[in-house]
Amino acid sequence: MKILLIGGGGREHAIAEGIKKSKHNPVLYALMAKKNPGIAALCEDFLLEKETEVAKIVEYAKARNIEMAFVGPEAPLAAGVADALWEAGVPVVGPKKACAVIEFDKAWARNFMKKYGIEGCPAYEVFTEEAPAHVFIEKLGDVAVKPSGLTGGKGVKVMGDQLPDLKAAMEYTSELLEKGPVVIEERFIGEEFTLQAFVDGKNLAFFPAVQDHKRAYEGDLGPNTGGMGSYTDAGEILPFMLSEDIEKAKKIMQHTVTALHEETGTGYQGILYGQFILTANGPKVVEFNARFGDPEAMNVIPLIETDFIEIMSAVVKGTLGNLPVKFSRKATVCKYAVPAGYPDNPEKDSEVIVGNIGEASVYYASVYEKEGKIYTTGSRAVAVVGCAETIEAAEKIAQNALENIQGKLFFRKDIGTAGLIQKRIDHMKELRG
Ligand code: GLY
Repeated sequence: MKILLIGGGGREHAIAEGIKKSKHNPVLYALMAKKNPGIAALCEDFLLEKETEVAKIVEYAKARNIEMAFVGPEAPLAAGVADALWEAGVPVVGPKKACAVIEFDKAWARNFMKKYGIEGCPAYEVFTEEAPAHVFIEKLGDVAVKPSGLTGGKGVKVMGDQLPDLKAAMEYTSELLEKGPVVIEERFIGEEFTLQAFVDGKNLAFFPAVQDHKRAYEGDLGPNTGGMGSYTDAGEILPFMLSEDIEKAKKIMQHTVTALHEETGTGYQGILYGQFILTANGPKVVEFNARFGDPEAMNVIPLIETDFIEIMSAVVKGTLGNLPVKFSRKATVCKYAVPAGYPDNPEKDSEVIVGNIGEASVYYASVYEKEGKIYTTGSRAVAVVGCAETIEAAEKIAQNALENIQGKLFFRKDIGTAGLIQKRIDHMKELRG
C-alpha cells in the first residue's frame, strides 16, 4: 500500500516509523517543507514543498497513486488538505476542515463546548473590543488570555505565570485584539496532561496519558516552548492521576466527537488531542487539537502493538470499533535537544552530530540535511525517547542518549526524574486536600 505522510517534524518522524513497522510492507512517500533526514531515510520518495500547498499535495498524491494519507501538523488541516485529498479519492487520517476548526479557532471551540454542554469548559467570553474585554478580566480576576487563531502553541498566556497581574492581562489582550478575536477565560489550577485518541468518526481508541513540559528551563522556568519533553507511565494514567480522572477525560472526548458530528455533519477522522488540567474538581479542558502532540506522539506511537496500517484503515473506514488497539505497558521519557538560545534567539544553521544513542530512539525534528550533515533551523532539533519498565529507567536511557548528541544545543535534565514527578504528585495531593 502506498501511503503519503504530510509534515516533516519529530512527530511525523514517529508517525513514519509507526507506518513502516506495519507487517503490510507499506511504501512511504512524504511531503515536507525541509528534508527531515529521519523521514527521508524511511521513504521511497519525497517532495519538498510547503505543507499548506493543497493543489501541489493532491497533484503529488495522484502522480504517485497514493492509497491513503496521514496529515501530521495542524496547518495543512486548516488549509483543507484532508478535504482535497478525500475529494481526489485518497482517504485521510486527519480531520476535514469543518472538524479541524476545533483547533484553529479557539473561540469556535469554546462556543461549541458551551452549546453542547461538554464538561470541563471554563467560564469564558470571546471579545473583539478592548473595553468589554478589560471589564471581563477584572470580573474573573484570574484569567488565561488566548488568541483565537493558530499560534504554534505559543500564544496563550496565563496569570500567575506569564502575566503577573490584571494590568498585564489587559495589556496582552489589547495587543492581541489588534490581530483578531481573543478568548478570555477562567484560569484553571492543577497539573496538565494530554490525552490522545485515534477517531474514526464515531469510535475512539485512546492512548496512555502523557505529560508535556512547556517551559524552556529546568524547574519549569523560562519562556514557553512547543514542549521540551514528556513522559508516560507503564499504564494509561500518570503518577499524579486516579483512574476516575482518565475516565472523565475519555467521556469528555467521546462527547466532543459525537457533538462535532452533530454540529458539522462531518465525522471526525484522525487524531483528537485533548489538553487537560487536572484540578481539585477533576479534568478541565485547556484546548483540543486536531493532530498528535509534539513531543507527545513520540511517547505513544512506539507503544502501539496493533498494526499501524490496520489502525489507519479502520480510522478511514469507520471500523475502529472492531479493532482492539493495544499498547505495550511500558513507561517512556522523551526529551528534546533544542538550539542554544531557543526559543527567543536560537542558533540557526548549526551542525548537530548524533553519536551513540544506545537503547534510545531518535527522532529528527526542525533540522535539515545538507551534504550528509545535519543542521538546526532554530526550533526544536532532535528528540530522544527511552522506553522501559519504569519512568526512572526510561529517563536514564533518554538522558544517556542526549549526552551523545553534540552541537550548540541544550535540553532539560529534569524531565522524567523522580524529583520532578514527586513535585507533580505533591501538587495534586495538596489540591485534592
Ligand atoms: N505539545 C503540545 C502540542 O503539541 O500542542
